[in-house]
Amino acid sequence: MISRSRENFSELTDNDLLSQLDHSVLPHHVAIIMDGNGRWASHRGLPRIAGHKEGLIALREVVNTFSDLGVPLLTVYAFSQENWKRPKAEIALLMMLLEEFLDQERHTFHERKIRFLPIGQIHTLPPSTQKQVQAVADETRHFTDRTLTVALSYGGRCEIVDAVNDLIEDVQRGNVSGPITESLFEQYLTTAALPDPDLLIRTSGEARISNFLLWQIAYTELYFTNTPWPDFRRRDTLVALLNYQKRERRFGRLSSTLSHQNGL
Ligand code: IPE
Ligand code: IPE
Ligand code: MG
Repeated sequence: MISRSRENFSELTDNDLLSQLDHSVLPHHVAIIMDGNGRWASHRGLPRIAGHKEGLIALREVVNTFSDLGVPLLTVYAFSQENWKRPKAEIALLMMLLEEFLDQERHTFHERKIRFLPIGQIHTLPPSTQKQVQAVADETRHFTDRTLTVALSYGGRCEIVDAVNDLIEDVQRGNVSGPITESLFEQYLTTAALPDPDLLIRTSGEARISNFLLWQIAYTELYFTNTPWPDFRRRDTLVALLNYQKRERRFGRLSSTLSHQNGL
C-alpha cells in the first residue's frame, strides 16, 4: 500500500505521540531513503553540502530514536550507484562527510552496541573512505542486538545481478545444486543476514524507490513524507511509526483470516 502521511499530529507533543505508540507492534526493520538534502539547502540559499551536513545530524537523531525504541534494524540509503553521475565536487564532499560522520559516531556505536554494516559496491569508494568504512564495520561486527546498515554506492538491480553471478559460480563449482529457491537466492544478496524491511520511509516528497532494495521490499509498507531529510527528526520518526501501526499487513490473505496486526 502506498500512502502519504495525512494525519495531523500538530497539536500533540512528542510525549503524546510516544504514548500513542504500541510498543508490541513496532517494526523490526525500517529502511529509509534519505532524500531532499540539496533542496533543503537551496531553500535557505545555502550550498547543497550544507543540506548534506544537516542530513547527518538528522541521521544521528533518527538512529538514536530507533535505538531508544528498541527497533533493532535500520537500513539507510546514503549514496546510490546513480549518484556517481553528480558533480565530482559534490561526491568528494559527500565522501568526506561520511568519513567524518563515522569518525564522530563510532563511540555511539560502541556505547549503544550498534553494528555498522555497509552494503553496496564498497570497492568503488575512494580509498580513505573504504578504509574508514571497513574499520568501523570490523570493530562493531560483534554487536548483534542492533544493526545500522548503510547503503553506499548501492543499486538494487546490480545487487540482484551480482547475486545471480555468484550463484552461477557456486553451481558450476558444485557447491550448490538446483532447484534454486527464493530462500537460497536471498542468501546471495548483500542483505542476507537481515529480514526484509517492514517499513520503508522516503522523505522530501518523491514517491519512487530509486533502485533501493528492489528484491527486499516486495511486502514492505511504504511511507512517503514531504519533510526533507534534514528536518526529519525524532518527532517525524514517531509520526511515521504511528502511521505504520494503522496499516493492516495482509500478505495476500483476507482481513478476516488475519490473527494479529503486523504479524507474518
Ligand atoms: C539525498 O539528498 C542525499 C543523497 C542522494 C546523497 P539529495 O542530494 O538527493 O537532495 P535533493 O533530492 O537534490 O534535494
Ligand atoms: C536516492 O535519492 C538515493 C539516496 C537517497 C542516497 P536521489 O536523489 O539520488 O534519487 P532520485 O534521483 O531523485 O531518484
Ligand atoms: Mg534527491
